Amino acid sequence: MTQPAPFNPDSILIVDFGSQVTQLIARRVREAGVYSEIAPFQSAEAAFERMQPKGIILSGSPASVLDADSPRVPQVILDSGLPILGICYGQQVLMAQLGGIVTLGDSGEFGHAVIEVSDRCSLFDGLWAEGESHQVWMSHGDKVSALAPGFRPVAASPGAPYAVIADDDRRYYAMQFHPEVVHTPGGGRLIANFARHVCGLTGDWTMAEFRATKIAEIRAQVGKGKVICGLSGGVDSAVAAVLIHEAIGEQLTCVFVDHGLMRSGEADQVVGLFRNHYNIPLVHVNAETLFLNGLAGITDPEAKRKFIGATFIDVFEAEAKKIGGAEFLAQGTLYPDVIESVSFTGGPSVTIKSHHNVGGLPERMNMKLVEPLRELFKDEVRALGRELGLTDAFVGRHPFPGPGLAIRIPGEVTRERCDILRKADAIYLEEIRNAGLYDAIWQAFAVLLPVRTVGVMGDGRTYDFVLALRAVTSTDGMTAAAYQFPGDFLPRVATRIVNEVKGINRVTYDYTSKPPGTIEWE
Ligand code: XMP
Repeated sequence: MTQPAPFNPDSILIVDFGSQVTQLIARRVREAGVYSEIAPFQSAEAAFERMQPKGIILSGSPASVLDADSPRVPQVILDSGLPILGICYGQQVLMAQLGGIVTLGDSGEFGHAVIEVSDRCSLFDGLWAEGESHQVWMSHGDKVSALAPGFRPVAASPGAPYAVIADDDRRYYAMQFHPEVVHTPGGGRLIANFARHVCGLTGDWTMAEFRATKIAEIRAQVGKGKVICGLSGGVDSAVAAVLIHEAIGEQLTCVFVDHGLMRSGEADQVVGLFRNHYNIPLVHVNAETLFLNGLAGITDPEAKRKFIGATFIDVFEAEAKKIGGAEFLAQGTLYPDVIESVSFTGGPSVTIKSHHNVGGLPERMNMKLVEPLRELFKDEVRALGRELGLTDAFVGRHPFPGPGLAIRIPGEVTRERCDILRKADAIYLEEIRNAGLYDAIWQAFAVLLPVRTVGVMGDGRTYDFVLALRAVTSTDGMTAAAYQFPGDFLPRVATRIVNEVKGINRVTYDYTSKPPGTIEWE
């Protein structure tokens, strides 16, 4: 087993005040080649002492600094002499604590805004110059109305006279807008400039170090305990399993519950990879009948998801008992799974879909969770997978949801419908691969609609199902746009599917973006 490299402590601490997009700050810092960790404001002081960071970023927040008991920056951070970047609430709280004034905005600014750059600033190096206007993304009600001593304005927007402010002596910078979201073009560079030019970090942090860090963490967490990991067939659980195996070897057992809702050839690929290539202990359970019988008559999307999640737990639990139990449960949970399923702050949030790899298992099985990918976005998991030696063909696979084909068959799920969908989906993906488009697309799949239409084939009338094709581009699955196929691609696929798949006589293409749609249909 390889020993982890010593952990490079050059890092940035992100103090989280509860914004929905705090994780994007961490991602942008990592993209700049600098290690970062997020700590909720309540435990920021402890994280600060442990990490000994070289810089601090203060996140946005749903709170208002004008409210009594709203969160504050720990004094130890302000006393440290380290560079600070305040974002939105982070700017306001910095002003409130350093002697500036924050007032309730009359109207606030939400969405796109244009800022005018009035002065130079280290954050703008190689990016923005005096006199230029740039698009940014704002989301604030309160605003800074008087600067704390030592600060000067360097950019303004119509709604925020202090859109960007700087105190070069103390290396404090702050902005009203959100540089971490993609709607602020150049925002990644602002954050990179803070990390590299202001904090003086070299930007040589890599996935290799993330791997080493996580391995050390997994070993520390698990000790001599046993871990089981549910493989879904997707990239995330596979990467989590390979990483954990590297950390603790035979203490890990993987369980692959084949619910019969996999794509063509998928189960064999996963089992082959784990048993033959990695030699990771794997229990393969064929539970197709159990799942399909149980899904009979269920048409509601959430009911399907709940049934599949609960049945998965039953099967998993039974298998876990057979191998003598385990104290730890490993999951390939990613950050988007976390934010769409629960609110980051633990408060109420709307459930869009119950993702089946989040929650449920640990409470019922009384196990501790090992979730090494929890802070990562999909493309980062792919980079980690490559780092771990998984082939491009495997890590580059399009995401596949835990509930599988069941959520791509609106209405009742039957074995016959699964078989029809599997065949059509395989043709669609084969054509995408042959056209060299697979890697340009985030996710492509077919959806079998519970609608029959009339067609004519040869001299006969047909009355068969409609198939919808979906292909989207995305960077993290949180937002997505329909992929625009070139010229005759879609007509060719439609012809092949109708000719080759019995049961489908009409094919449509889904042009909806996310939002307002979601990527999957259920
Ligand atoms: P939606 O449909 O919410 O999908 O726009 C976003 C991404 O998440 C995948 N997805 C899931 N993945 N368990 C998973 O592991 C689930 O229950 C689940 N539901 C959706 C979806 O395929 C897309 O990549």
